[in-house]
Amino acid sequence: MKLWAGRFQKETDLVVNDFNSSIQFDARLYEEDITGSIAHATMLGEQGIIEKSEADKIVEGLKGILKDIQDGNVEFSMEYEDIHMNVEVLLTQRIGDTGKRLHTARSRNDQVAVDMRMYVKKEICEIVDLALKFQSVLVEKAKANLDTVMPGYTHLQRAQPTTFAHYMMAYANMLKRDITRLQDCYERMDEMPLGSGALASTTYPINREITREMLNFARMTDNSLDGVSDRDYCLELMSDLSIMMMHLSRLSEEVISWCSWEWRFAELDDAYSTGSSIMPQKKNPDVCELIRGKTGRVYGDLMGLLTTMKALPLAYNKDMQEDKEGVFDAIDTVKQCLEVFAPMFATMTLRKKNMRKAASEGFINATDCADYLTKKGVPFRDAYMITGRLVNNCIRAGETLETLTLRDFAAISKEFGADVYDALDLKTCVEGRKVVGGPAPSEVTRQIGKIEDFMTEAQELLEQMREHT
Ligand code: ARG
Repeated sequence: MKLWAGRFQKETDLVVNDFNSSIQFDARLYEEDITGSIAHATMLGEQGIIEKSEADKIVEGLKGILKDIQDGNVEFSMEYEDIHMNVEVLLTQRIGDTGKRLHTARSRNDQVAVDMRMYVKKEICEIVDLALKFQSVLVEKAKANLDTVMPGYTHLQRAQPTTFAHYMMAYANMLKRDITRLQDCYERMDEMPLGSGALASTTYPINREITREMLNFARMTDNSLDGVSDRDYCLELMSDLSIMMMHLSRLSEEVISWCSWEWRFAELDDAYSTGSSIMPQKKNPDVCELIRGKTGRVYGDLMGLLTTMKALPLAYNKDMQEDKEGVFDAIDTVKQCLEVFAPMFATMTLRKKNMRKAASEGFINATDCADYLTKKGVPFRDAYMITGRLVNNCIRAGETLETLTLRDFAAISKEFGADVYDALDLKTCVEGRKVVGGPAPSEVTRQIGKIEDFMTEAQELLEQMREHT
């Protein structure tokens, strides 16, 4: 029989039973649900709302259910709709009528709200942990490639010289923002909604401070209507995850390009590549493509819940049950992507010679050539025009700036001297870019140090966050 059967004269239609139930996907909240119920029952006992002995019996019963679920000995039933009612029914089956006292001064609305927050807090920690691990892969690659010159691009056209280390640190900085965004999200959502009741709290003398403390929340929600109907933290999490996926998709796209035979800047380890069923020569970057593809899926999860929440009146509406699958999917997807990306990236080999070759063929030192003239007193615009002519001549003659003779240079501007070759050397071009943010090895070393300091701090914060889940 349904827990709420009292008011009804008919059984629920079976189609509605299936349609209404969420146990298929909210079963994963079992641990949070039971932990929340243990705190609630303990508080009821301490406040004298139920007998202390009854509270103890409920807690014991709940602990037994938790263990049995963990051991795989419990089958949930669609008949009881969701994880909350499944656990409650099991409890009463096991300990008898005392179990019926658990739901005193509580609604499933504040119950699901607290369960989800506990779950999300725990998962944010997992994701931050994985993101930090991936960030350290980027930093290691940077350290090993301070002098690995490659072309930097704009419009996907070779533009100016940079290094692979500089490139890696660009992504490490994106990850830093992703991580701090998640930590901010955690901080903001760390509020306990239990005690909000169905929507207007309760007349029982509950003590929310006891449950807040037991459930490790920093604060409690300050308004019961908001407490049961706020899903901002789910949206904020999925926004943060969408941005993180956007970053992963950009790096995936780079790896796909680098591994193409057109570029040949890098090669993925066999363990992280796939073959073709028909073309024997193929070695495909499927993992990167999937990450790129799954980015759309995470955006979809965000859009789905934003749309669900749009214009919902206060307080709880069943629409909100739709929050879970998207949030779970976004969390699972991002974790999977980070888990596979880190080792795939760590085992990728670079073809430094090809990078260097590409760097020497794309006139990426043309800006440096113009700068050379400017340093000799030629106004930048004129220097730019002169260099453009030189490049044009080179293209027609199949030369590069470095292969021109001093006579070729002098024919265009008398300001050119023999020291132009040093100015055009890619090593000089990279080392000269030592302003804050630039690719000079000394400067990238500083960038690495800064990110490493961040990683230490973020790791410490993560430990604290974990202690409060
Ligand atoms: N399964 C529900 C959900 O996930 C729990 C809350 C149900 N509350 C209600 N009044 N129907 O949202």
